[in-house]
Amino acid sequence: MNGVNNVTVHAVLVPFPAQGHVNALIHFANLLASRGFFITFVNTEWTEKRMFGSAKLKSQLHYSKPNFRFLSFPDSLPPEHGRTSHLGELFIALVKRGDALEALLRKETGNGIPPVTCIVSDGVMSCTISVAANMQVPRVVFWPFCAAASIAQKYAYSLFSQGHIPVKISEGNRPEKMITTLPGNIPALWPSDLISFYREQFTSDPIYEAVLFESRMSDMGEYVLANTFEELEGREAAAALSNKGCPSLSIGPVFLPNFLEGENSTQSNMSMWEEDDSCLHWLDKQRPRSVLYVSFGSLALKSQEQLDELALGLEQSGYAFLWVLRSDIAQGQAAVLPEGFEERTKDRALFVKWTPQLKVLAHPSVGGFLTHSGWNSTVESISMGVPMIGWPYFGDQFLNCRFTKEIWKVGLDFKDVDVDDGRLVRREEIESAVVRVMANEEMQKKAEELKEAARKAVMEGGSSFNNINTFINDMLNRAKAQSQSFK
Ligand code: UDX
Repeated sequence: MNGVNNVTVHAVLVPFPAQGHVNALIHFANLLASRGFFITFVNTEWTEKRMFGSAKLKSQLHYSKPNFRFLSFPDSLPPEHGRTSHLGELFIALVKRGDALEALLRKETGNGIPPVTCIVSDGVMSCTISVAANMQVPRVVFWPFCAAASIAQKYAYSLFSQGHIPVKISEGNRPEKMITTLPGNIPALWPSDLISFYREQFTSDPIYEAVLFESRMSDMGEYVLANTFEELEGREAAAALSNKGCPSLSIGPVFLPNFLEGENSTQSNMSMWEEDDSCLHWLDKQRPRSVLYVSFGSLALKSQEQLDELALGLEQSGYAFLWVLRSDIAQGQAAVLPEGFEERTKDRALFVKWTPQLKVLAHPSVGGFLTHSGWNSTVESISMGVPMIGWPYFGDQFLNCRFTKEIWKVGLDFKDVDVDDGRLVRREEIESAVVRVMANEEMQKKAEELKEAARKAVMEGGSSFNNINTFINDMLNRAKAQSQSFK
């Protein structure tokens, strides 16, 4: 293991237990491991079971290195609990798990494991606050959203005090309600850009109080990292996430350095579903930029009626498409496709349950992405130069979708779905959006520019590359000082 004067930095990484959050932190963990850190990656037992469940998945995982270990702790929910289908209850259970996490870390020491240097915690995992304080190590807040959405979440409690929250969705995009007081030089936000759990309709759901609580707690940390890059959101945006002047840096897209190295072992996400690689062979047979990729991430659901319209819209567009139909996509059930649809589209369509998404987006045959605008999907698409059609579902996705369209200009969306999330999007709208995104040279040009900017940011000398070095050096210095104090 590398280190300064034989000192090894030991980072404990703690994601919120959902696919998008785990993916971002696992890539960052991998990056730190390749720079000589000792990594303890802590999942909940439920997440770990989902990820390591099948022997095949386990063998696909290449994180088993001498300086990388996985640990897990119980979330205290009963086995039959849906976890991500009842996010509020999951949040509330996790808030109280600091003791269990600390006990685990204290138990799993010795045998050459270096002392813990820092705890890199998801920005919405406040249970790590007491752990870091009791273990006397810095809590590094890792924001898995874009900087603007992270700022909106960090300052949500102030917005609540100012009367912006709860958001009346009828006022979601009224000009006089625009939020212009947030720091970081970010664009003014519509109320509908805020994390959707702050909408009036959620006030009786446990998720409302839970995210507000996390907002109040998000000030607790001695270092802040954001999974974005300065060329996309500006330097000031990450700086505005600082807690009382602590370092606060953009270090993303965190998946990209490993991906660019082309090392097969690190190109994959850590998936809760089994990846179906067959789609890559199918893509190999398609023309450049001819395929629309359709996927709504790990949590978004659609009604069966909406899936019917989507299928028929895709068919009417005439374009080839690769569609991820997660087994629970139809409000918890498998989708039923319209009669004859598969037969009619068989020469230009492929349906899979879960893809190796990074490899799909990087494939030259993919020319557009119909996405739920989750931050990972958005930043992955940006990094691969693929224009998007945004169709947000919840959380930070409304902001991501609007910024993709209006600020970064690499996407389209459907009218009013930001303020009327129950609206049925008709097949004609889908057809029109697909045609517009696939044939849009201007958007493709812009997407190429952003792709280059993202890649430049993570390559040697780039903004994120330098910021990661700053973080690594700061943690090395802390580990050195820690080892001196033990002598
Ligand atoms: C959640 C929130 O919804 C998102 O808005 C937030 O920013 C992070 O947490 P999720 O809904 O899963 O995440 O969306 P997203 O952030 O896009 O993450 C999905 C991840 O799964 C991506 O890394 C994507 O590459 C991966 N994925 C998705 C696959 O590997 N295969 C698939 O078939 C679909």
